[in-house]
Amino acid sequence: MFRIVNKTVLNPSVTRMEIEAPYIAGKALPGQFVIFRVDEQGERVPLTIADCDREQGTITLIFQIVGTSTMKLNALDAGDSILDLAGPLGLPTKLPEGARRVCVIGGGVGCAIAYPQAKALFRQGLTVDVIAGFRSKDIVILEDEFRANCTELILCTDDGSYGKKGFVTDALRERIESGVQYDCVIAIGPIPMMKFVCVVTKEFGIRTIVSLNPIMVDGTGMCGGCRVTVGGKTRYACVEGPDFDGHEVDFDELMRRNGVFREREAECRMLTQAQLEGGK
Ligand SMILES: Cc1cc2nc3c(=O)[nH]c(=O)nc-3n(C[C@H](O)[C@H](O)[C@H](O)COP(=O)(O)OP(=O)(O)OC[C@H]3O[C@@H](n4cnc5c(N)ncnc54)[C@H](O)[C@@H]3O)c2cc1C
Ligand code: FES
Repeated sequence: MFRIVNKTVLNPSVTRMEIEAPYIAGKALPGQFVIFRVDEQGERVPLTIADCDREQGTITLIFQIVGTSTMKLNALDAGDSILDLAGPLGLPTKLPEGARRVCVIGGGVGCAIAYPQAKALFRQGLTVDVIAGFRSKDIVILEDEFRANCTELILCTDDGSYGKKGFVTDALRERIESGVQYDCVIAIGPIPMMKFVCVVTKEFGIRTIVSLNPIMVDGTGMCGGCRVTVGGKTRYACVEGPDFDGHEVDFDELMRRNGVFREREAECRMLTQAQLEGGK
């Protein structure tokens, strides 16, 4: 069992949890993830290791409450425990050789995954600009954490209610056209966001790493659930990723595959909501 030591509500649909997991905390590197199961009936669900404290033996997860498993996880509090936590899984993020200036782009809850990347690169002494995009001011997360761990933070909202009005791709294009030269861009967020960041960076010939979120089951390369097409070849995101060269990824296929269970997920979500409300 893995004990939750801290729980913070970051916005109405995003929660941060610190969980006791000394083995994972001792080994985790930026870009890696865990797979958890809340209980015996639980699905196996991947979440990125947003932070870890090697001395305390804890890892931090930041998750959006979207369906059954994340609703069940969010129903727990500090002091409660979850059944399984496997990790660290996946390959750590690897920058192109010699990169000095990078732009880390996060969209929505993708900022939770972008944050450890920005923090690690900034602490290695690189110049790290962060572009963080949200739909509106009320769902902005991790602003202070990013500010403390990057050279410059550009916060954008789609509706202009906070920071710069517009999409992260607009802010990125503006910076590149103003003469800022990036050795690499790391983009993490909704699939359409990553796809269109790659359109911009391809135009300017900038290496781009994306962190993919296909449906995962075992997380060890055996079930094939997480397969994605990269450079025309089938790759397993759980063991060969989740980071890939964004200019080579078939984003449209990934989007189709992620939607395959939508109806069943919606049914389960309603059922879980009713169960959780019934248990209050
Ligand atoms: C490597 C990786 C890291 C991730 N890191 C984070 C993170 O740090 N924070 C965060 O909020 N989300 C993260 N996700 C997405 C997260 O796994 C899904 O939101 C979660 O699985 C939803 O499960 P659910 O039962 O709550 O929702 P469901 O209703 O079951 O599903 C909602 C949507 O989540 C996705 N999903 C469902 N089951 C899985 C699964 N087993 N594997 C992957 N995706 C699934 C599908 O796109 C689905 O349409 C990550 C995904 C991957 C692959
Ligand atoms: S999750 Fe099963 S092969 Fe990757």
